[in-house]
Amino acid sequence: MHPILNVAIMAAREAGEIITRYLDNIDRLTVEEKSKNNFVSEVDKLAEQAIIRTIRKYYPDHQVLAEESGRQASKSEVEWIIDPLDGTTNYLHQFPQFSVSIAVKEKGRLMHAVVFDPVRDEMFHATRGSGARLNNRRIRVSEQKNIKHALLATGFPYYEFDYIDAYLASFKHFMLNTAGIRRAGSAALDLAYVAAGRVDGYWEFNLKPWDIAAGILLVQEAGGLCTDFSGGENMLESGNVLACTPKLMKDMAQTLAQTIPSELRK
Ligand code: IPD
Ligand code: CA
Ligand code: CA
Repeated sequence: MHPILNVAIMAAREAGEIITRYLDNIDRLTVEEKSKNNFVSEVDKLAEQAIIRTIRKYYPDHQVLAEESGRQASKSEVEWIIDPLDGTTNYLHQFPQFSVSIAVKEKGRLMHAVVFDPVRDEMFHATRGSGARLNNRRIRVSEQKNIKHALLATGFPYYEFDYIDAYLASFKHFMLNTAGIRRAGSAALDLAYVAAGRVDGYWEFNLKPWDIAAGILLVQEAGGLCTDFSGGENMLESGNVLACTPKLMKDMAQTLAQTIPSELRK
């Protein structure tokens, strides 16, 4: 295993321990509403500090972009992208679907990825060129060829509603033409589930780099495809992600092209 991936896994486990330790005492946590429906708790901050502390121990000069503390820039060509707790709304309701997401970019390319589900003790990880794994066993996207039999994952808009009609049009089309849709509440795990073949495809608008950076590499290394909503590769910049098994890409991309106005399709 690459030493950087090892450190990422170690950091994700430490964050996972903090997250599970507080799970039975959610009522006592200090919670702030950063903006409408966008919450942060002490646990998000403690988990993020633990991750950054571990990274700094081994790589004091790497760049860091973390959801709660922002960017720590440096001259290094290596950048860590961290979501210490993806699925905070679930966590605060003790709905057991949340994760720690850590990605590492080198010279602008995603190279390593970790998504950890501390409730199920599931560690998804990947290094570019070496495939994707769940608890050390290789994972692959599903073999699904037929959109009518596909199970999809998505995320509902919940704090910015400018594109709600476009989202609902795509949702309606997929609802009528697939086997089902799940909204589980952690974008990083949604992508990890595409990588593991638990769902056949996933789409969501308006995400942040820390929600999706690790999940994108997991999907790619598991043999899947990821694009933005115009078929390009600017998922991290646009925040819009379509991820699926290669055989469903044409159908899913066509649905987005037909239901989402071109000015929103970036
Ligand atoms: C959120 C989760 C959710 C997605 C949101 C994200 P957070 O992350 O990934 O599934 O729909 O857009 O913001 O705020 O819990 O870290
Ligand atoms: Ca997130
Ligand atoms: Ca978060």
